[in-house]
Order: sequence, then C-alpha cells, then structure tokens
Amino acid sequence: MVEIFIDGDRVEAEDGQTVMQAARASGHVIPFFCWHPSLSVPGNCRICMVEIEGDGTAAGWLDIACNMPVAKGMHVLTDSPRVRARRKQMLELVTLNHPVDCGICDKAGECTLQDYHYEYNGEPSVSRDVKVRATKHHDLSDRIVLDNERCILCSRCVRFTREISKSDGLGIQNRGDHSLVRAVEDGSFDRDPYSDNVIDICPVGALLSKPFLHKARVWYLEPTASICPGCERGCTVKVWHRKSAWKLNRLDPAANARIDRVTPLENPAVNGPWICNKGRDLARIFERPRATEAMLKGSAVAPQTALDVARALIAAARHPVALVSSWGSNEELAAFDRALAARFASHVKADWLPVPGERIEDDVLIKADKNPNRAGALARFPALPVDPRAAFGADCDLVLVWGEGFASDLLPASAKVIRLDAWRHADNARADVFLPITVQTERSGHYTNFAGVVSPFEACFAKPPGVADAEALFAALALPLLVEATT
Ligand code: SF4
Ligand code: SF4
Ligand code: FES
Repeated sequence: MVEIFIDGDRVEAEDGQTVMQAARASGHVIPFFCWHPSLSVPGNCRICMVEIEGDGTAAGWLDIACNMPVAKGMHVLTDSPRVRARRKQMLELVTLNHPVDCGICDKAGECTLQDYHYEYNGEPSVSRDVKVRATKHHDLSDRIVLDNERCILCSRCVRFTREISKSDGLGIQNRGDHSLVRAVEDGSFDRDPYSDNVIDICPVGALLSKPFLHKARVWYLEPTASICPGCERGCTVKVWHRKSAWKLNRLDPAANARIDRVTPLENPAVNGPWICNKGRDLARIFERPRATEAMLKGSAVAPQTALDVARALIAAARHPVALVSSWGSNEELAAFDRALAARFASHVKADWLPVPGERIEDDVLIKADKNPNRAGALARFPALPVDPRAAFGADCDLVLVWGEGFASDLLPASAKVIRLDAWRHADNARADVFLPITVQTERSGHYTNFAGVVSPFEACFAKPPGVADAEALFAALALPLLVEATT
C-alpha cells in the first residue's frame, strides 16, 4: 500500500496504481477521454490533468493522472484553479475544429465532451479561424457510421480493435488536423464480431450505430437489466426501450414495445464491459413474429380448451417424454421439475444451433453453445442424446416439446405432441396441442452461464393477450395429476 493525499484526503493506494486509478477507487472524480479502464494508456487527450503540490523542496507541477504512478506521500489536487485553467485550455483545443452539432448528434445526453465543456469551459469558441472540415458521414462498416468532424482522436476505438477484439480493424491516417480514423482495407473491421463496442467507448458522437441512427433521443429511453441469450456466456446487457412517461399514444405506438438498442451491462464475472454484435441485435431474436394463439392441430382454440386437452393427453400417456428448453429460466426449470418431471422422462435439448456465418467460439466472449441456460437445465435433467431417437424408445406415446429448435420430423410418428413456444413456426400447427408462451423480455428470471455464474433478467414489456408464462402453464398442466395423486 502507498499512502497519498488527494484533495487533502488520505488515500491508501495499491502499489503500481496510477493517480487516476487511486482517485477513482477512493471516490475522487478526474475527467478523462482517452483513458479507459480496460485499455492501454496513450495519454493523448490531457483532460485528466491534476496538480502535484510541491513539498517545500521541489515546486509543484501539472501532470496527467492516467499515466502517473502513485508515490508515497504525494499530494494531488484534482480541482485547483491551475487544474481548471488547464482543462479549459484543453477543451478549447479539443473543440477547435469540432462542429458542436449536439442538436443533431445521437450521443447528446451521453457525451462526456458536452459534460466536461459545461463543467470546465462553458464559453463560446475563442478561435476566429474557420473550422477544418472532415468527412461528416463515413461508412466505417456495415453497422457503424463515423463523423470525423466530431472525432477527438482519443484512439480508444483503434486500441479496442488491437487489444480486445484483436481484429486490428481500425487505424488513424495522416497527421495533425488531417488525421482520420479509418477501417483497414482488408475488411477485418466489418468481420469483427465485437465492432459495436467502439460505439460505446467513443467519448463523443463520432461513432454511431446505423440501426439506432436518429431513432430516439436517449433521454426518452430507459434500460432494463437483461441477459443476452445468444450463447452460454450469458453476457449481462441493458435493453433500452421507451420510458413509460414518454409513451406514444397515437403516433407510432409500436415504438412503446420496441427494443431501441442493447448495450453491455458491465459484469466482471461474465463479460466485463463488452458484448458481441449478436448481443446488440437482440431485437432480431425477440421481435420475430410471435405465436399468440393456442391451437389443436393447427386450429385456433381458447387457451383453456388447449390446456384441458393437454392435461388429458398427459393423464392418458404411459411413456411420456419431455424435451426441456435450454432457454428456460432457472425459475421455469424449477417449476417444470416440481410440476411435471415425475411424470415425464425429461431431456435437455438445444433450442438454438450456430447459424451459417456466425462465429462459433473465440477466446474473447463468444461460446460455441448458443443457448443461455444449458448449464441451469443440465443441473436438473440429462442432455438429449446425440441421436434423439434413443430418448424416445419404441413405446413413447407423448412428447412435450418446450421451446424451439426441435423439428416435428424428428418426433416419433405415433406419439401425441404438446408444444410450448413463443415464436411462429410451421411445426406449431403440427402439434396436437400448441400453447404460446412469453419471451424473455416479458418475464423475469435467472440464467446460469457455462461457468456457473447466475445472473438475473427483468421484464420490460407486457405479454401479448393469450400468451402465458411457461412457469404458470406447467403448474396448470400438472393440476389434474396432483388431484389424482391425492385421491
Ligand atoms: S472515433 Fe471516437 S473513439 Fe475513435 S478516436 Fe475518434 S473520438 Fe476516439
Ligand atoms: S458473447 Fe454470447 S452472450 Fe455475450 S453478447 Fe455475444 S452472443 Fe450474447
Ligand atoms: S485521460 Fe489522461 S491523457 Fe487522456
């Protein structure tokens, strides 16, 4: 431990820490643009300037906190008049050629340049020179647009592709006020499955998401804590949607129940501050056409009718088998276990397999198993054999299929079928009984990831009429069986 003093407070810093790290750990605020806790330290933006007080034998000096190691007895001032004056000068330099077009910038409301300008400068430009123009709308990739006039050349995006995603997909061309962030020409940034993290870490509105571009002002949105179901890593995410106070009544009410964007929910035990692009695209998974009607052999019926027929099938079956979802929450798995596991021979199936072109696995985050709660399901039930016919046996007379990913053609021809699914699939209509269930954004629960870490997710949208939680359905399906068992 190293004893230092920050703004007069005694701080026990760790050996090897920088002043920035010690200050943050002890609750002292120092602004930063180029520094990021998970990246190397370039020390190029100079906004983190602090004052080191002299000790009578040596004069004090100004230095950057992000690259200055702590030293025993050091006295640091984070907000002295000299510090504030230097930060003001740095902001004048940073905004010299910046367009200050916050009114049309998606980053407005989340931009540290805005925040620091108002904190340390707050005055109109002192420059009389015409601003240097640069590319206003550069297609950095299929997913990201770059506004070079807003770029403050902090190099966070470049370092991310070198140090985290390892695609080396970005660099900075030219020098001085001709400098431009550009993607390398071999397409590696387009292929980088983690590319959208640069949008989050860009401290200004230079890197913006194409799907989210000009879709919503961030102050109309709020995040709900959730989990990406894209693989068994189970990255924790924020699902952003419209605040209830800002719901639209007549103009585009569909926007009220829409996922506007997905960003990482920092979690050192699972994904750190990052997610992959599949996690950004959760709307593509959750907002597929929904199954909302209960059916008997493809004909819509009242939910209670379907439930009654399913109960009768379960009561009559002699050798029923259940295929358990690896997208079910721990709570749903427990509910199935409580209500129906004694009645069925149960096996855990894969709801999702890798799709063509998808990265299968790497040493950053992405895992080969594309199901979020396989570990939670396997803690209760055995895995479905590689040849699923081995699970059914010749005398199987009923199969309950929970979740998607198991084609009707693979089921025993003579067995009755009960299906529970959230999305519209042709196989739904082939089941003897089909019951529509909620998706993850309509319920709360927990998943257990491949490493055994349990994370929660919360509901953010109302469930559609006619759709039930699987947890409630399992209890309802078991009701006659419980009655039978007690009589
Ligand atoms: S685009 Fe953003 S993250 Fe990249 S160098 Fe410019 S300001 Fe920094
Ligand atoms: S690594 Fe897996 S869990 Fe994490 S965001 Fe990507 S697909 Fe989702
Ligand atoms: S944050 Fe220290 S120089 Fe940029």
